Amino acid sequence: MSKAKLIVFEGVDGSGTTTQVARLQQRLVKENIPACKTAQPSERPTGKMIREILAGRLIQNPGFATMSLLFAADRQDQQESEILPCLYRGESVICDRYVHSSVIYQSLSAQDPSIRTWIKEVNRHIMVPHQVIYLRIDAKTAAQRRAERGGDEEIFDKMPFQQRLVDTYDSIQRIFPNHRIATIDATQSIEQIEEEVWGVVEPMYRK
Ligand code: TYD
Repeated sequence: MSKAKLIVFEGVDGSGTTTQVARLQQRLVKENIPACKTAQPSERPTGKMIREILAGRLIQNPGFATMSLLFAADRQDQQESEILPCLYRGESVICDRYVHSSVIYQSLSAQDPSIRTWIKEVNRHIMVPHQVIYLRIDAKTAAQRRAERGGDEEIFDKMPFQQRLVDTYDSIQRIFPNHRIATIDATQSIEQIEEEVWGVVEPMYRK
């Protein structure tokens, strides 16, 4: 377990976390560092239910508390059945979104920053990642990227909400003072971002 790390990518919708998760995992494997990738919401039963809700197909207008608890349940289940077994096998885990998304998205939905304490509390058995990589992008560029990518609109895609997300993500280090967080400019090219990510991650595996 000693060399296996949990590295998570965070950012607003359209910041490119999914692309960079895949690139980092491939790069680690190429460097003979065992690594698997995953995402939250997960592909497990609770994660699948959450995706249906996000697409507006299961529950209409779910409240922030319902969503917070569902995301926390999915995260806990994924930790027990996927992330910890992977780390114990000696494989690093690269995760697309983590507890930061819950604290930021669901507290904005609640329109009450003080609710962050409760959201952290329901996630208290979730392990602290070895490294968080925050891909920083402005709301306008992120919206353009989402439009280019296509796909159905999800419940968090509205522009005023995305602007508030950017503002809150910019305080991620203050919201999670005990987490090791690197901020990378996600308006750069995919290759430039990959290099900066590698610059953060590579020293973690040096002894
Ligand atoms: P996303 O990474 O965008 O998945 P996909 O690329 O497959 O659409 O995640 C789905 C949405 O869920 C995204 O808008 C962020 C939101 N989310 C939360 O609100 N809270 C959470 O705890 C997590 C993990 C995601």
